Order: sequence, then structure tokens, then C-alpha cells
Amino acid sequence: MDKTWHSTILTLFPEMFPGPLEHSLAGKALKENKWSLQTIDIRDFAYDKHQTVDDTCAGGGAGMVLKADVVDKALTHACNQYVSENPAIIYLTPRGEPLRQPRVHSLMQDHPAGCILLCGRYEGVDDRVIEKWREEKGLIEISIGDYILSGGEIAALTLMDACVRLLPGVVNKQESLESESFELDLLEFPQYTKPQIWQGKVVPEILLSGDHKKIAVWRHDQAEKITQERRPDLWQAYLNKRPFDQR
Ligand code: ADE
Repeated sequence: MDKTWHSTILTLFPEMFPGPLEHSLAGKALKENKWSLQTIDIRDFAYDKHQTVDDTCAGGGAGMVLKADVVDKALTHACNQYVSENPAIIYLTPRGEPLRQPRVHSLMQDHPAGCILLCGRYEGVDDRVIEKWREEKGLIEISIGDYILSGGEIAALTLMDACVRLLPGVVNKQESLESESFELDLLEFPQYTKPQIWQGKVVPEILLSGDHKKIAVWRHDQAEKITQERRPDLWQAYLNKRPFDQR
């Protein structure tokens, strides 16, 4: 395989891709072949005449569960396409590790070839296939937040967008990546553009001073203030990282 970052998505709704990723920065990078996307329809791996992919929950209860053998075949097919490469194999589920920016970085560093994303539907996927792929191929489970979506597809799109932005040449200025929220463990400082006065509200004087040192100090102070006000969890983590004499 070439150097392009590949994403392979296993889904019952291939038409949901690339969806919003066809637009904006990710869309431009997709057209420029900086990354690529392939969907695999899980239903193609059903083997009966009704193309059944799911069945009722063992133990009873509402909803349907994706069958282990069907999902296993789809994952094997996806993996075979990467040959000797080492893609990240990810199951999107609200039970997974909550996604944070450092995880996006580590995924891109540890798996530069790309990723295979398994999107669940209904009540989920038979846990035995998840366990098998975790044990044998290092599958990881990722959640994009503590809420329940109708399936993993929107979570997969979110994760892919976060990954693609880190590819070289996708976001124009390296600086703009580095000052963004979370890259420095703080939320981002507020941004303004022209006009200087809009509906009586003014752009802070210091930003018009041309004094880059003072502007950097102001921005850092603002980032700290906003983080402290809005995200006590991040603020505490930030304080804990600082040397003792600066806390
Ligand atoms: N599938 C359903 N809800 C999800 C979530 N919050 N994160 C990842 N995958 C999901």
C-alpha cells in the first residue's frame, strides 16, 4: 500500500460516507488523495437467503444484536486489504474509551497506515467477536461521548475528521493546530476579526497593539480563565501538570 492514510469503514449504511467529510478541509484533502475512504457493507457478509445480519438478544430484551460470524467475516476481509500494514482496529461504542485529543495523536503515530472502523447498530455487536479481535488483533473500543447515538457511523465520521486534520498539509498552518483547544491542555482563547467595533462591542485593545509578546501573554491568561470557568476537570489536570512552585 502507498503512503496515503486509509480508512475502511464497516457499516450497514455505507451511503452515510463520506457525508460531511466530503466538504471543508477533510474534503479537500480527500480530493488531493492525502487520505482515502472505503466502505464495506456488513450485509455483504450475510450468508442466508434473507441476508440476515442480526438476531435477538440472548437472555431476552428489546432490540437486535449483530451476529458474531457476520461481523468476523467483514473484519477479516477489511484486514486482508492492509496486508502487512498495521491499521488501528476500532469499534465505535458508548462503552469505549472516551475520545480525547491525545488519543487521536497516538492513533496517528502508532498506526500511520490508517484505521478500520466498525460501526455497530441496534443493541450492539455480539461481544464474543469484539473479545476475539481485542485479544488477537488489539481491537480498541472508542466512545465519542457519554450519550447514545443510533449507531457508530456519526462517531466514525467524528473520529476520522479529528485524525485527518493531523495529516501533514491538511491544516494550513502548523501554528493553528498547536494553539487550538486541548493541544496545550487548555481551551482556546477568544478570537476576533474586523470590524473593530460591532454592535457596540469592541475587539480587546491589546490585540491591536502589535506587541506580540503582550498578545501571547493575554491569550494565555484568557485560555486559563476560560478553562477554569468552564472545565474544572481540565483545569485541575492542567494544574497537576505544572511544577509545584507554579501551582
Ligand atoms: N455508538 C452509539 N453511541 C456512540 C458513542 N457515544 N460513541 C461511539 N459510538 C457510539
